[in-house]
Amino acid sequence: MVKVLMVCLGNICRSPLAEGILREKIKKNNLDVIVESCGFEKFHEGDKADRRAIDIARLNTVDISNHRARLFKPSFFDYYDKILVMDENNYRMVMAKARNEEDKIKVDYIMNLNNPGLNRPVPDPYYGGRAQFELTFKMLDSATDKIVELLKTNQWP
Ligand code: 4NP
Repeated sequence: MVKVLMVCLGNICRSPLAEGILREKIKKNNLDVIVESCGFEKFHEGDKADRRAIDIARLNTVDISNHRARLFKPSFFDYYDKILVMDENNYRMVMAKARNEEDKIKVDYIMNLNNPGLNRPVPDPYYGGRAQFELTFKMLDSATDKIVELLKTNQWP
């Protein structure tokens, strides 16, 4: 059983989308994977996903309407096998909580699945419009396709 944690700032836009998209693909492919998400912004704790994120997900037959935002905890390093962040800000915040090397090697940028080592961000769509949410979905769809491809051939994590 592989356990994956998706991390962004608010846990209301990008990481709930990443979680929902990957969960849908895991179900379709009958894979033994747990995927969850979290963020760092106390202000949004307990909130549903952003309306725009719920809408772009639903348009693509992904349901994230049951999501509730939660905060990152250092104990997540013990539970999850991979911790995938959206951007450099998230990366820094997660790495600042790492207790040792074993924690640190679990952390990577989600878009490094498609372009290893480039640390390309999934830009924050919160202050953007529809086009920004479409781009977010497209990027996360691509990264999660790669995750599934690698999982099916036991090449990940
Ligand atoms: P997310 O987007 O990190 O993709 O969930 C954001 C949502 C809320 C805020 C920032 C980013 N905020 O500052 O409230």
